[in-house]
This record gives sequence, C-alpha cells and structure tokens, in this order.
Amino acid sequence: MKPFHSKLTAAFAVLALAGCQKKADTIKIGLAGVQTGSDGEIGAAPIRGSQIAIDEWNAKGGVLGKPIETVNRDDEGKPDQAVAVANELVSAQVCAVLGHFNSGCSLPASDIYNQAGILQLTPASTNPTITERGLPHLFRACGRDDQQGVVSAAFAFDSLKVTQVAILHDKTAYGQGLAEAFKKSFEAKGGKAVVFEGVGSDELDFRASIAALKAAGGQAVFWGGMYKQGGPLYKQMRQGDFKGALLGGDGIYETELIKTVGPKADSVFITFGPDFNGLPVAKPFLAAYKAKYGQEAGGYAIYGYDAANVLLLAIKKAGTTNADTVSKMLRSQEWPTLAGSISFDEKGDLKKANYVIWTIREGKFAVR
Ligand code: ALA
Repeated sequence: MKPFHSKLTAAFAVLALAGCQKKADTIKIGLAGVQTGSDGEIGAAPIRGSQIAIDEWNAKGGVLGKPIETVNRDDEGKPDQAVAVANELVSAQVCAVLGHFNSGCSLPASDIYNQAGILQLTPASTNPTITERGLPHLFRACGRDDQQGVVSAAFAFDSLKVTQVAILHDKTAYGQGLAEAFKKSFEAKGGKAVVFEGVGSDELDFRASIAALKAAGGQAVFWGGMYKQGGPLYKQMRQGDFKGALLGGDGIYETELIKTVGPKADSVFITFGPDFNGLPVAKPFLAAYKAKYGQEAGGYAIYGYDAANVLLLAIKKAGTTNADTVSKMLRSQEWPTLAGSISFDEKGDLKKANYVIWTIREGKFAVR
C-alpha cells in the first residue's frame, strides 16, 4: 500500500492536471495598455473596444471551439511597468497580446513577446521603430508617426500658410518621434522650425516656452505629446496672447482635451484616422460600448474592436494560435473591419494609413 503522502501527491497531480486541462480549454488573449494615470482615458478606450469584440465572439462560442479568456493588465503608460506586464502575460501563457497603447510601452514589451514567440497587435502605438525592427509577430492596426507628421506638416504649410513653427514635445518615444517627423516634413516643404524643445512629460507650465516661441517669430505650435499637456499648452498660448494654431497628433485626440481647451477652441488641428464613428456600420458597436461602459467610445475604441476581430478571425482561419501561422495568415489577405478593409505589409504596418485633419466644432471633434 502506498504511504499517505504519496497518495496525496498523486491526488494533487491529478488536480493540477485538471487545472492545466481547464486552462488549455480556453484561448487566452492579453489586453495591455495604459488604463490609469495621465493617459488613462485615451488608453482605456481600445482595451474596452477589444473586450466588446471578444464578448461577441464568446457569445457565438469563442474561437477554435473554445471560450476566449482575457488577461487584462494596466501598464500605467510607464515603460518599466510595461515590461513587468509583458512578463506577466508571458507567464499567464497568453497566445497573443492586443496592446500596448503608448509607443514607449510597446517598444520594450515587444522584445519580451518576441522572445516568447507571442503575437502582438497594437491598436495605437505609432512610433515607426516599432515595426522597423523586423519582429516577425508584431503588427499594428493604426498608422505611423512618419505618416501623420507628413499630413500635419502639409496642412500647416499649405492650408494654414504657416512658414515658421515652434515645435514642443514631451521627450517620449511617441512625442519626440512625432515632433521630429513633423519637423522633417515641414522643413522639406520650405518651412522653418524656429523652436524645437523637449519638456518633461509631467510639465504643465508652458509660459516660458510660449514667451520664447513668440520672441522667435513662431506662427503656430506643433505639440508632440498627449492631451493632458496639450490642453494646458493651448490654454496658456491664448492666455499669453499668442493667437496661432495648435497642431498635434493622435495623442491629443481625446474628449478630455476639449474639456480643457473649451468647446470653441477652433484653432486646434489634430491628425487621426477618418471618421469611422460616423459610419452606420459602427452604430451597434458604439451602442454596445455605451451600454457596457456608460460613456461614449473614445477615438481609439474602434481600433481596439477592429484589432481584436482581425486577430480572432486570423486565428480562426489559421486553425491554430501558433504565432508563426497566425502571423502568416495576417499578412496573407485583407481583413474586414468597421474601418473598412485593412491589410498588413511585411513589417506588420497597415498598407494604407488614412490620416485626416480634425478640429473642434461645437464642442466635439470634427473632420475639417
Ligand atoms: N500613438 C501614441 C503612441 O504611440 C498613442 O504612443
């Protein structure tokens, strides 16, 4: 007869095995990105969008015959925390990650997913380096800063007739990279950057910079950074009697910005994707978002929803969660989304990024 402790060990082994089998009975997807702190509002939107898509898949039986389990982690918009989150998601054995939000988080986290052979699809990280490193399982469902910088610079130079611009940025991978992309493109058109300055990503007092850019002859300001600083920057531009426009990228496309600058701030010009929210096909999603979260869907919500749907469709078509096979599948065809059909190039970038200029009209973001 076996001693008691060995019976116990055997019993635990059976239980552990049952646990493993139970785990293997779900398809685990990581949701990662900033959901608290200064970028919390803008970052939560794509996570919530992804969750709605996953709820819909689960209501129809999941994928590959199994329910989808999400493992949601907040990286707080901090690169170090993003690394910790990535390691946690690897330990949790997710088969793919939808995230992160900030480029400064996607960059270090992607190295960890790459080493672990985990597919990553970011709905919002726009820094070009992310996909320039040749990581085989990394994709993005949004454009790049060297695309939105070009659109913004062309608008400033050609439409606003600005020839001298002041460029400020928050020294992050996203903000500085976007500022540099804007500068390159603006100067290629014949414009001049009379100021190019980085400020701390928690700086909220821009008075010294505004005095300097006025003295240098700046006619407009380009802000490479997020809405929590972009709002106060615009307010202080006006308080400092500077009447020029504020230009910025996707990081300031957040209704919190409008709360800070006011509904009549019509000299704010933002690059973001086309108005998908206005499409009839988006209506059920927007209603589901409002019902579940009690608020309107933020700008990147639809990107999160689309990214999740594309990932799950690719897994379904591939018949496996294997990152190699799913990555090949993702590159092999066009994918239907609320934002129209999308496809990925070899690097994992969208083949077409359609940045347009948005402004604030009657207290809402509107395509110009
Ligand atoms: N597009 C922004 C970034 O890449 C959100 O950080």
